[in-house]
Amino acid sequence: MRTVRFGIIGCGLMGREFASAAARWCHLREPSARPVIVAVCNRSPEPMRWFTDHLGTIRQATANYRELLANPDVDAVYIAVPHHLHAEMYITAIEAGKHLFGEKPFGIDREANRAILAALAARPDCFARCSSEFPFFPAMQRIGRMLAGHEFGTILEVNAGFLHSSDLDPNKPINWKRSVATNGAYGCLGDLGLHPLHVPLRAGWMPRNVRAILSKVFTHRPGRDGQPAPCETWDNATLLCEAMDPTTRQIFPLTIKTQRIAPGEKNSWYFEILGTRRSARFSTKQANALQFLDYSGGEQPWQHLDMGQEMTYPVISGGIFEAGFSDVILQMWAAYLHELVHGHTPGPFAGCVTPRETQQHHEVLTAALESHRTCTVVTVNGD
Ligand SMILES: NC(=O)c1ccc[n+]([C@@H]2O[C@H](COP(=O)([O-])OP(=O)(O)OC[C@H]3O[C@@H](n4cnc5c(N)ncnc54)[C@H](O)[C@@H]3O)[C@@H](O)[C@H]2O)c1
Repeated sequence: MRTVRFGIIGCGLMGREFASAAARWCHLREPSARPVIVAVCNRSPEPMRWFTDHLGTIRQATANYRELLANPDVDAVYIAVPHHLHAEMYITAIEAGKHLFGEKPFGIDREANRAILAALAARPDCFARCSSEFPFFPAMQRIGRMLAGHEFGTILEVNAGFLHSSDLDPNKPINWKRSVATNGAYGCLGDLGLHPLHVPLRAGWMPRNVRAILSKVFTHRPGRDGQPAPCETWDNATLLCEAMDPTTRQIFPLTIKTQRIAPGEKNSWYFEILGTRRSARFSTKQANALQFLDYSGGEQPWQHLDMGQEMTYPVISGGIFEAGFSDVILQMWAAYLHELVHGHTPGPFAGCVTPRETQQHHEVLTAALESHRTCTVVTVNGD
């Protein structure tokens, strides 16, 4: 089996998730390739210690990301750092000839994203994808296959969102996600928006226009010194878009919600599609369950299907065992390596976010900011 030697830049929350998935690689049956993490980089040394203590494969630990990118023993990099660093680090990695797994929003704003895509265009040998794990839940993969099979009839409405209550507590200390300089002007949209947009964009439902309503709830939070520090970014966003189904060419309403202050929601990613022949819905609140409704005249009962381990990238678990976040992270990484090695995925919804999809999502988010500012419906640049 082919081995891909990885460097991780940014040893925080998501860097550790990748390391844990890589350590569990034997969970996959016949994967296309195997990641080995050989190098780590973090601005401060302490977070790197967890990696050197637990992995046993680290040959380089550095505070300077350029040193990691100069390492000829690194084939690919996962860069999981605050948003203001995306463009600089992603572009330098691409120019160094490393394959890239980036994090959302793949550039702090549209200009940064365009610069990253220009660097990629100049290096077609570099394989780049962006993270978004939730479509890899078994129920969402099943919905993806239904979409590919045009099983919904005429689409009436799609609702997708990502709801957190992470910032409901006003006494939660401030972090980089609350500052425009490090998180970006998009606020919660840049932080969460790619997750609910991934499947719609993959389905070809690029929004034509958007009316957005954004809210800032808490203006200050405790800073490092305990004193109130300004909390600058948008907390919650609701987008109402018009989208067109490329199969029927019918226009339908698409709503996207991203909220960091959603009471009762710990980490709820949801997707709902209503169609004339079939409807379906999924939420991570009930991660094992796919709900669907088939209509061919008469009554319209919702059915509830337990998905178990119906994984796109097969695993050793018994088919009846339910899947969780760690399992879908593993699926997402399996998808990245599968596509890196084979140049395609087993199905249209079985791949990670493409650079083109990150660009489309920046167009939606940029239009959403303008819509809120001008209180108008804004046409989304669809080029
Ligand atoms: N896919 C997901 O579900 C998901 C979840 C959370 C965050 N994210 C994304 O992952 C990225 C990182 O988020 P996080 O929550 O892991 O952040 P984090 O704050 O936990 O980790 C970021 C790490 O980067 C390090 N860092 C900062 N500047 C650096 C530099 N110049 N050189 C090297 N290291 C540096 C920090 O010290 C920190 O350890 C963001 O783009 C975020 O949007 C994705």
